[in-house]
Amino acid sequence: MIALLRGGLELAYEESGSGIPVLMVHGFPHNRTLWEGQINGLSNYAHFVAPDLRGFGGSTSAGPFSLDQYADDLASFLDSLELQRVVVCGLSMGGYIAFAMLRRHRARIRALVLADTRATADTAEAREQRMRLIALVEEQGVDALAERQVRASVGRSTFEQRPQLTERIRRMMSSAPAAGVVGALRAMAERPDSSALLGTIDVPTMVVGGLEDEITPPDELRLLAESIPRSRLELLERCGHLCPMERPAAFNHVLGEFLGTLLYD
Ligand code: MLT
Repeated sequence: MIALLRGGLELAYEESGSGIPVLMVHGFPHNRTLWEGQINGLSNYAHFVAPDLRGFGGSTSAGPFSLDQYADDLASFLDSLELQRVVVCGLSMGGYIAFAMLRRHRARIRALVLADTRATADTAEAREQRMRLIALVEEQGVDALAERQVRASVGRSTFEQRPQLTERIRRMMSSAPAAGVVGALRAMAERPDSSALLGTIDVPTMVVGGLEDEITPPDELRLLAESIPRSRLELLERCGHLCPMERPAAFNHVLGEFLGTLLYD
């Protein structure tokens, strides 16, 4: 489906299920198919809406690109679906966007799922690496970036034992439009530090990630959870940065349980 938003922005999205509304925000350089396992597995429990962010999948590939802009796009998207308050579930860059939503659209957030993400800004070294990746995409295309990123995007177990899944993830990454990839790299490089927000989060929060995540390792996820007042931490075995795709049933188990607790909150 396509949502036509202000300024002619089109966001492609998947919608399924009934119950508590859950906004699924993919990471970089992904698209909404990241969440297929959750939408297929949990739609008896919740009402999932999973958009492609501006610049990804079937959505408009034009900018401006910033984390605030992605957050504003998502608030307009929720307006278009007449959804007032939702659980926001963001993975990695999707988590950075969840922090931008907390800053700009806090009243829309019923609860948070922060998957394989961090609150800190880029270090100087990480920013330089982003600039190198922009040059790589401009010179050699998105395929070259996907080739380079895919190994770290999955856990060691997935990489060694599940070549077909790893290839599917590589294809998802390499299908991203170059303009969206470059825009997102700049947006992430410019993002502010959100650490000061963590102590102010007053909605139920689940921090979840893969024990084999090499991009946002378990120790970072532990620290993130410890900094958020009403949080729980779930670390999943045998998967890495893309745990919802690598171990959908395990991810669904903890997500389903977390959504269940909201009935009593
Ligand atoms: C992601 O999965 O969204 C990226 O790893 C985020 C990043 O590059 O910081």
